[in-house]
Amino acid sequence: MKETTSGLRITPYKRRYRQVTNDLLFFSRLQHIHLDWQNLEQWLDEPSTFAWLAWRGNTPVGAMATSEPLNHTCWIRLIALHENRQAIVAALWQVVVPALRAVDTHTVYLLATHDWVLPYIEPLGFAYDEHIVTMFRTRQRVVSVDIEDMIIRVVSLNDVASMVMVDNTAFLPPWQLADDELRQAIRIAAACTIAEIDGAVVGYQLSTQYQNSAHLARLAVLPSMQGRGIGAALLSDVLQRFERRSIYTMSVNTQMSNERSQQLYYRFGFRRNGYDLPVWKINL
Ligand SMILES: CC(C)(COP(=O)(O)OP(=O)(O)OC[C@H]1O[C@@H](n2cnc3c(N)ncnc32)[C@H](O)[C@@H]1OP(=O)(O)O)[C@@H](O)C(=O)NCCC(=O)NCCS
Repeated sequence: MKETTSGLRITPYKRRYRQVTNDLLFFSRLQHIHLDWQNLEQWLDEPSTFAWLAWRGNTPVGAMATSEPLNHTCWIRLIALHENRQAIVAALWQVVVPALRAVDTHTVYLLATHDWVLPYIEPLGFAYDEHIVTMFRTRQRVVSVDIEDMIIRVVSLNDVASMVMVDNTAFLPPWQLADDELRQAIRIAAACTIAEIDGAVVGYQLSTQYQNSAHLARLAVLPSMQGRGIGAALLSDVLQRFERRSIYTMSVNTQMSNERSQQLYYRFGFRRNGYDLPVWKINL
């Protein structure tokens, strides 16, 4: 427990604070929540979550939580403020930084899903990194891509270790997924397939579905196997899987700087739709 100069008390989140935290989340007007696969309540209770509460007396007035650092990098996944005060964020941050440094975290990222958060994190030293762009595809013909000796099949939980290996070599931090994140993603996926050559996993895609639209959440190919059409084959295959379910639209997010993936999506008829979000970061 830590008393800060602003008179706030900062404590790690504990399961026994769940109800008061739920109240804070229900009543707070200022919330940054960036969870891809998890349910917030369950995620807060996981031992791997790094979460803290700011208290005024017996009432929590702020919360901050990050993902478990992976390769020295983590995301701020939650900021909730009961009061419109920078001092709460600053007091939380004062405790979060040493805790993250203690587990050898070098960089913290935040996906600014709402603008309100930027004037709060900028004084902490966060700076703009790059934009995430959204691309969207409506109904159109899908070109099949076949690669000799390669099969595409639906994932099984036995594939997770190979998928993590492909994922963590294809993506750089902070875009890599940890084993438990990938398992959770598979649980909620509408279509998750892997590309296999001679029994070895060389790529995977994971897509979700919301109402009548699909979202390509992950696409990764082993770096040594890139440029041979494997990404295109996985994409073509999943588009056809969704077509068979009468789902003809798909969205995807990628970094503005990731031109190779945008080129692939463009070839399959995806176009940017303007729903771009900035990523901010800080080196600790
Ligand atoms: C994006 C990715 C999945 C593409 O997989 P891939 O198997 O290399 O894809 P393909 O071989 O089908 O090629 C896709 C395009 O990239 C181009 N490309 C592939 N390798 C390239 C290289 N080494 N240099 C330049 N361009 C290359 C291809 O020419 C192709 O362009 P085209 O569609 O105009 O022909 C793969 O590069 C990857 O895993 N990247 C890291 C993870 C990532 O960024 N995922 C997508 C963001 S969500």
